[in-house]
Amino acid sequence: DTTLVADLNARLRDVPDFPKPGIVFKDITPVLADPRLFGRVINAMSAPFRGQHVTKVVGVEARGFLLGAPIALALNAGFVPARKPGKLPHRSVVERYSLEYGSDGVEMHEDAILQGERVLVVDDVLATGGTAEATARLVSRLGGELVGFSFLLSLDFLEGPNRLGRERVTTLLTF
Ligand code: PRP
Ligand code: MG
Repeated sequence: DTTLVADLNARLRDVPDFPKPGIVFKDITPVLADPRLFGRVINAMSAPFRGQHVTKVVGVEARGFLLGAPIALALNAGFVPARKPGKLPHRSVVERYSLEYGSDGVEMHEDAILQGERVLVVDDVLATGGTAEATARLVSRLGGELVGFSFLLSLDFLEGPNRLGRERVTTLLTF
């Protein structure tokens, strides 16, 4: 899919000073609204992990859900939501992290990943890597084996790939 990067760049919307002054928000909703482009994104984000025996895909609330669920289906894996704390009904494990703007946490059901399962973590944007790193800690606490991370885009100047380990990170776009 040689034109995917150009097509994505044409459809991602830069929103200056959102949610805070000085931050340029990368709005993916125009990509999701185009069924053909959305499908190409899901295919490209899944492709590096085909044949790697992924059994669970973890999507990070909220925007990671939008990509993680269809990627799970594409890889014939189960989907696991990593939620903001306090939303899940069953016994859960939580990890806190500090964010590009603010601080937060991620929480997963304690039985969402079984010992030895092969896990892919999916989110829309890699910024500082705090969210993904905390999610990876949850996966490892539950005995999962992290296969890698798949992002739509990475803000490399925030050093996320270095924090997570470059060899484990795949991304369609880099800024
Ligand atoms: C954004 C983005 C990633 C995270 C990246 O989510 O969707 O999840 O920040 O930042 P980091 O690499 O510095 O941790 P956000 O918490 O803004 O919320 P949302 O997905 O619910 O919109
Ligand atoms: Mg998010």
